[in-house]
Amino acid sequence: MVTQSSALKGLVLSGGRGRRLRPITYTGAKQLVPVANRPILFYVLENLSEAGIKDVGIIISPETGKEIKHAVGDGRDWGLKVDYILQEEPLGLAHAVKIARPYLGMNPFIMYLGDNLIGSGIAKFRRDFEQSKADASILLKEVDAPTNFGIAEIDKQGRVIRLVEKPKAPVSNLALVGIYFFSAKIHEAVTKIRPSLRGELEITDAIQWLLDHDNKVVSHRLEEWWLDTGKKDDLLTANTAVLDGWTRRKIKGKVDATSQVNGRVDLGKGSHIINSTVRGPVVIGENVHIEGSFIGPFTSIGNGCQIRSAVVEHSVVLENAVIEHIDRLEDSLIGKGSFIVQGNGNHHAYRLTVGDDSVVEL
Ligand code: G1P
Repeated sequence: MVTQSSALKGLVLSGGRGRRLRPITYTGAKQLVPVANRPILFYVLENLSEAGIKDVGIIISPETGKEIKHAVGDGRDWGLKVDYILQEEPLGLAHAVKIARPYLGMNPFIMYLGDNLIGSGIAKFRRDFEQSKADASILLKEVDAPTNFGIAEIDKQGRVIRLVEKPKAPVSNLALVGIYFFSAKIHEAVTKIRPSLRGELEITDAIQWLLDHDNKVVSHRLEEWWLDTGKKDDLLTANTAVLDGWTRRKIKGKVDATSQVNGRVDLGKGSHIINSTVRGPVVIGENVHIEGSFIGPFTSIGNGCQIRSAVVEHSVVLENAVIEHIDRLEDSLIGKGSFIVQGNGNHHAYRLTVGDDSVVEL
């Protein structure tokens, strides 16, 4: 039986300013940017809940904390008990562990970066961590650009030898996924390290400290996809992967007789499709108006959007955006409440990244 004091807690990092997704994150938290119309953070909470975790502390920043609290509330939608921990400044992942210590106590915990999305659950990794009696268990995945991540060097038996944060000359292409399991030992490690060149206390360095002091660190390869959704292209890829893997046909809105809605299309209530074609996989939120348009595969359209006389494909359109008379919009990320319109006589295909509340005349 698992006693209360040994129960695995969750620590979700949802602070930071999300510089890489600007302009979208000038006005919002990157963890709340939707993938297939659901905030990334909701997939994280779902994964924690499905792995049997009950108590989750969410690290928030002064800039976006209110928004996160508003979206997640007390966590009951996921069967979780959520507490919030304010990180005044973005001083690093290991710093977040430091300030969460009173919340975590001596319990083992899973630290999950709130902008990381993986194509699987985490229950199996939890079981492995608990059976291994390790002080840290990390998840690794091959990446194309290892200089952007924490990178692991492992030996032929798969044992972790060394970890380096954003190495200039990477020794492998195995990146640390933003999902880590720790015993209470990590609390000592985070007090022993110094800030990195970017001025942050790196969790990668804290795990390296555990290795240097003969603590057990195990690793697992993530076989499914992983998206660290810090950038626009990553976000579109994540949107494509989630729509491809998880969208089911569900039509709650209205489709008129002159329209065609083909394949896996999730159409929210109060939405209208008029004289248009929608080809799945596509997710369309509630109270959306689509008229005289073509919505192509791998597109997510948020609540309250209006699309008239436009072709939109492989794009993420956030809530309340208006798109009118656009020949072709593809590979685009359109911020909340934006207004995108094409002037007379212009005929082009566009690839756009547009921040919230923008007006773009093409
Ligand atoms: C952080 C970690 C890095 C890890 C990455 C995963 O990087 O420092 O080791 O590979 O998350 O998302 P950051 O997003 O702070 O650049």
